[in-house]
Amino acid sequence: MGDEVIQATNDDAAMCKRFAVQQGYWSDPYLPLLIRSGDRKAPEINRGYYVRTHGLKTLMHQFLEKTKCACQIVNLGAGFDTTFWQLNDEGKLPDVYVELDFRAVTSRKCQSVRVRPKLLEGVQAANKGQAPLIEDAELHSARYHITWADMRNIEEFESKLTKAGIDKSKPTLFVAECVLVYLPTDKSSTLLKWIATNFQSALFLNFEQINLKDRFGQVMIDNLRRRQCDLAGADACESLQTQKDRFLSVGWEGAEGIDTQAVYNSLPADDIYRIERLEFLDEAELLHQLLQHYCITWAWKDSTNLGLSSVGFGR
Ligand SMILES: C[S@@+](CC[C@H](N)C(=O)[O-])C[C@H]1O[C@@H](n2cnc3c(N)ncnc32)[C@H](O)[C@@H]1O
Repeated sequence: MGDEVIQATNDDAAMCKRFAVQQGYWSDPYLPLLIRSGDRKAPEINRGYYVRTHGLKTLMHQFLEKTKCACQIVNLGAGFDTTFWQLNDEGKLPDVYVELDFRAVTSRKCQSVRVRPKLLEGVQAANKGQAPLIEDAELHSARYHITWADMRNIEEFESKLTKAGIDKSKPTLFVAECVLVYLPTDKSSTLLKWIATNFQSALFLNFEQINLKDRFGQVMIDNLRRRQCDLAGADACESLQTQKDRFLSVGWEGAEGIDTQAVYNSLPADDIYRIERLEFLDEAELLHQLLQHYCITWAWKDSTNLGLSSVGFGR
């Protein structure tokens, strides 16, 4: 599969999120500034994206609370993610926020920041009013960086983190939202090992597929294959156990994970009431199946006793 097909998955994700936002699942004034609107999506897809976004946000906020924002966030394969602007609005930005993706993707994001005043103003506000440096498909400022690297190349990855000012001694949150599955498992394993070896205080949030070997999982793989999209990392997505083992086998202290059905079940009752009234869902079984085929796994290294092992849902 060519890298263009992998990069195009960002447009898909961003358009789906934009549609879900339009339907009222959550609010995100920044996404429409980064991606055009796409086709209508089915209600179960919209709910799935809500659970994904809400679940990752929940764990990220726990990390920010435990570190009192004296930390760093590295969003791997960030695509058109808008978390930086949202944290800025909430007054919860970490010391450094880095996004990394392929050059073709960061180039488009940097261009949007350049021409959309609302995006640029957010970056400047986080940077004590100073304009960021935007060149060569990268954005650099005191607090926010958009940088490109191919994560299959660990030397390139390391040098870009260094250029963005990442300090390996500081508590660091790594986020990979539907990203590792596009890397061959030996490459994602090298990446996870490199992080575990170099950072003593870190939390990794990983959202991606599971149960890919059952019948429904096989249909998901076939559908993607028809669009020329092969999941090179599917082996690690066999079960929750394989998802946790991929961290534990390369030096992380602990790992936990739940499928997105469990994340859905952990939503506050009034939130479930709210989202279930947004759209009529006549394919409840399909939603159930979908939610059982994605998971959030989190792994930690906690040499400074921040309490990272207590991160989780319903806490
Ligand atoms: C499905 S999209 C997810 C985007 C974003 N994380 C989200 O959930 O909205 C996958 C992203 O991972 C990026 N990606 C995949 N493999 C990569 C690699 N080897 N190096 C850098 N970026 C990669 C793609 O370019 C794409 O932006």
